[in-house]
Amino acid sequence: MKHIVVLTGAGMSAESGISTFRDSGGLWEQHSVEDVATPEGFRRNPQLVLDFYNTRRKESFDTKPNKGHIGLAEMEKDFKVSIITQNVDDLHERAGSTDVLHLHGELSKVRSTVDPSLIYTLTADNWEIKLGDKCEKGSQLRPHIVWFGEAVPMIEEAMHTVQKADILVVIGTSLNVYPAAGLLNYVKSGTPIFLIDPNEVKASRNDIYFIKEGASAGVEKLRELLKI
Ligand code: APR
Repeated sequence: MKHIVVLTGAGMSAESGISTFRDSGGLWEQHSVEDVATPEGFRRNPQLVLDFYNTRRKESFDTKPNKGHIGLAEMEKDFKVSIITQNVDDLHERAGSTDVLHLHGELSKVRSTVDPSLIYTLTADNWEIKLGDKCEKGSQLRPHIVWFGEAVPMIEEAMHTVQKADILVVIGTSLNVYPAAGLLNYVKSGTPIFLIDPNEVKASRNDIYFIKEGASAGVEKLRELLKI
């Protein structure tokens, strides 16, 4: 079975109604990254950060996977499919994908601020964390999200996965943020790379097959192209 590795970003979830970051009206137009997505921001105003992620968590629990997520899950019938996502929602899992690596953390998880191995899962019925919610060691809980300036613990594993790809597919990412964007450079030479995005994406290589569509239509087109 051929091994397809798929790198996804916020655009993958756009058709489920979740805002991207850098499109017009995106999250980084409504909020300052420094205030809500850095350790300094959390130290300065933890309530603001907890509220930001509580809102996104609630939204994420209220949305559904779109045809793009579902199409990728269905491809597991014909391919080994590894998803490496920058997204913190669980829409790939809820669509049925069985191999999902979250590079930037997961909205549905929170963790201790003194012991990062203490991770707790929230649910649609219990989706909020507040100031004063503590881990078993008595420290404040924080979103299990990789903030700007923090290490990306899963990047090594992601690099190894990309190196094993027979086909690389990139969906719904502006390729603005490293080290995620650098993953394209870890494919074996000669590996076909498909990029699905309704807009132009500047990629530092010229051997990419662009599918200028949204995620749902793009995955459908990709499946047509890969029909063996
Ligand atoms: N289908 C597919 N792609 C889409 C769609 C759609 N319906 N709508 C928009 N896009 C594309 C945009 O054209 C853009 O290229 O999705 C991409 C979204 O880019 P960003 O908003 O920059 O999101 P992303 O690339 O995932 O950001 C990377 O930055 O802020 C951090 O941690 C955050 O994981 C995030 C990282």
